[in-house]
Amino acid sequence: MAKMIYAGKAKQLWTTDDDQLLRVVYTNQATALNGKRKDQISGKGKLNNEISTLVFKYLAQNGIPTHFVKKISATEELVKKVSIIPLEVVTRNIGAGHFAARFGVKEGLRLAVPVEELYYKSDELDDPFMNESQVYALKVAIPAEIKQIWQLSRQVNQLLTPLFASLGLQLVDFKLEFGRTADGQIILADEFSPDNCRLWDLKTKQHMDKDVFRRELGDLADVYSEVLRRLASKLGE
Ligand code: C5P
Repeated sequence: MAKMIYAGKAKQLWTTDDDQLLRVVYTNQATALNGKRKDQISGKGKLNNEISTLVFKYLAQNGIPTHFVKKISATEELVKKVSIIPLEVVTRNIGAGHFAARFGVKEGLRLAVPVEELYYKSDELDDPFMNESQVYALKVAIPAEIKQIWQLSRQVNQLLTPLFASLGLQLVDFKLEFGRTADGQIILADEFSPDNCRLWDLKTKQHMDKDVFRRELGDLADVYSEVLRRLASKLGE
């Protein structure tokens, strides 16, 4: 019998008959303020599953090891079972969101170099910022793993920034998560969707990501559909 082993803010994880594989279910829930504001957005689970499937396949084709195995229904995918490293790995190309607020810069500032940040994944603590020595002191990961994580994050940025630019979208920032396989390899896990990145339309500067929900700027499903339409026009089978 399949068991639900994790219920996140926008996804559930279920066991399968194969102990190496898990089933991910994308739900329609949208949250803001670390779960303090919640809403159901019809179609969001399906859209994120489709978007993340296209992005993970593209990354895998370009040499990034990922947990993605295959999409199995409109809202579900199969993934390799990994032990998730409890870090949110954020890369920023443009100053926005918390970065703009923290340093008092205007949203839209082009950063001289990409900014790389780690946050400790903990709902109770509101995902606090964590530097590398804090990671090692609390044994969240070892230096070789963090080195691998930075390398993979940089490669993802180098692959996705031009991909989205070719679709008229600026990849402002994004959050990745990584997992350890049974044989100790670090691979990309979680998802890549407009829930965990910022995408701005290059021409209109319109927000095409979860900021539409966070800032109540319009219809979230409409903008996610547009992101999917552009991605599928380039990557769809
Ligand atoms: O809020 P902040 O500016 O730090 O977010 C940076 C990037 O990380 C954004 O793309 C945001 O969607 C993503 N993020 C996330 N999950 C979090 C925090 C941030 O996906 N818990």
